Amino acid sequence: MVNSTSLPRPTEMAHRLLREKLQPGDQAIDATVGNGYDTLFLAEQVGPKGHVYGFDVQEIAIEKTRQRVAGRENITLRCLSHDLLDRYISESISAITFNLGYLPGGDKSITTQPQTTMAALRNSVKVLKEGGLLTIVAYIGHEGGLRESNTVADWASSLDQNVFNTVRYEFTNQCNTPPFLIAVEKR
Ligand SMILES: C[S@@+](CC[C@H](N)C(=O)[O-])C[C@H]1O[C@@H](n2cnc3c(N)ncnc32)[C@H](O)[C@@H]1O
Repeated sequence: MVNSTSLPRPTEMAHRLLREKLQPGDQAIDATVGNGYDTLFLAEQVGPKGHVYGFDVQEIAIEKTRQRVAGRENITLRCLSHDLLDRYISESISAITFNLGYLPGGDKSITTQPQTTMAALRNSVKVLKEGGLLTIVAYIGHEGGLRESNTVADWASSLDQNVFNTVRYEFTNQCNTPPFLIAVEKR
């Protein structure tokens, strides 16, 4: 079986799109900071004059992220569910990223949940500025993942095309329930 590819994985494709969108000085949100890789990536894109707001429900994820981004002053981390993000964000946001599921290397029973994920996504598109980008990497393999992924995909494809452009990116011939990327651009 071939197990390597030059095609970007959904997480890599999300970074490509985010890199193209974000400019120095922009504001961005990492809605699921986890181990901090995406937070660091966003902070690099927006630079010292920009800002990244990060959310996670687990203190251990916040702490891991704090360590990964140590020394950077353009990041605010909150141990808080992402459905509350609009209470803390007053700026218009250029990009928001969600990487759903559980914390890699952490407690697999703590995962994103359809109800809070959907509330967070609805709030995300409100704080996104015109031309802004929302990316969601959804995982099917873990318990509850299929239901959450389908809910997110259905929501994205029901968004008004006069206001949003939505795409889906995924490997279509893999047997092992690969993740997929949804990207939503606010027109
Ligand atoms: C796949 S991990 C994120 C990986 C991360 N972006 C990175 O770069 O390492 C998913 C994270 O979502 C977090 N999470 C679960 N429910 C959440 C919620 N309601 N609000 C914010 N984060 C949540 C989990 O605690 C976990 O750390």
